[in-house]
Amino acid sequence: MNLETNYLGLTLRNPIVVGASPFCDDLDQARRLEEAGAAALVMHSLFEEQIEQEQEALLHLLETPAESTYEATSYFPHFDDYQLSPVAYLRTLERLKSTLTIPVIASLNGRRPGGWIDHARRLESAGADALELNTYQLATDPAFSSEDIEGDILEIVRNVTATVKIPVSVKLSPYHASLSHFAAELEEQGADGLVLFNRFYQPDFDIEELDVIPRLRLSHSSELLLRLRWLSILSPQVKGSLACGGGVHTAEDVIKAILGGAHVVQVVSVLLENGPRVIPAMLEGLRSWMADHEHLDLSKVRGALNLKRCPDPEAHERANYIKILQSWKI
Ligand SMILES: Cc1cc2nc3c(=O)[nH]c(=O)nc-3n(C[C@H](O)[C@H](O)[C@H](O)COP(=O)(O)O)c2cc1C
Repeated sequence: MNLETNYLGLTLRNPIVVGASPFCDDLDQARRLEEAGAAALVMHSLFEEQIEQEQEALLHLLETPAESTYEATSYFPHFDDYQLSPVAYLRTLERLKSTLTIPVIASLNGRRPGGWIDHARRLESAGADALELNTYQLATDPAFSSEDIEGDILEIVRNVTATVKIPVSVKLSPYHASLSHFAAELEEQGADGLVLFNRFYQPDFDIEELDVIPRLRLSHSSELLLRLRWLSILSPQVKGSLACGGGVHTAEDVIKAILGGAHVVQVVSVLLENGPRVIPAMLEGLRSWMADHEHLDLSKVRGALNLKRCPDPEAHERANYIKILQSWKI
């Protein structure tokens, strides 16, 4: 039985990828995930703000006379809030590459085009097999239109893909008015793949203390449905790779994502909850489902329920929305 898949031009032994998370900060953890069967790892993101802070600090040091060392060092920004400084990130990437045999994907997280994009070249030189771009931003300024935001993302993708030769994927938000159109534009700018989707961490309210509380909640399989819909719509439309990230917790979730059109799934929450042992369980479930359905090759199964190939395309479209609402009887 062949579970091999091609993601961003990389041949992976199976479709299970560890999504961007702190797992890669620890070499032993990364090795355990590889041994458990993970086919590739995505490192956590290096942020635009981090890279620009470092660039500004270096510039300040270069421009400051030697006698004012104290002032210069005290100016140096504190990186304590970040897991790894840009330099430590490069070292970690080099160590991961010399320890693991599976591909390692570096992740850059930025909102606006700028000098931070040059850092992509350093990640490539340190051995990254591919780059994942996360362009997360919360648009709270009414002067900033959706066209402005998408324009910035497209420019970032254009600049990054012109900077490096390794494949580049874009981790998308589901909140675009026309995701199909935007996906096509991203491909035109050089994106080799899309990750569906970024997961947003919503702050909660404390009604006793009257305060806003930031909260990191892990995902649930119910979040997969939004991904399945968009995988099904985009998979016949895009030329590049599709990753399903968010809400993949079981072998059944993996199978559904592949039927929707995913080349790979990215998992994080389920690994944080249960550890690496979930990977062999997912692979076993996938193999046993393929055997039951007499499939020998995973690539033949991919997209079997997408908008073009499923038996009832209406189930994905507006007609189904109307039917569902009309079907509720009181
Ligand atoms: C602790 C933690 C750290 C994460 N760090 C990053 C990150 O640095 N960059 C990023 O793009 N996504 C990050 N994510 C999001 C995950 O990559 C993934 O998209 C999300 O958790 C959805 O997948 P899941 O349902 O399997 O958890 C993080 C998630 C968690 C839980």
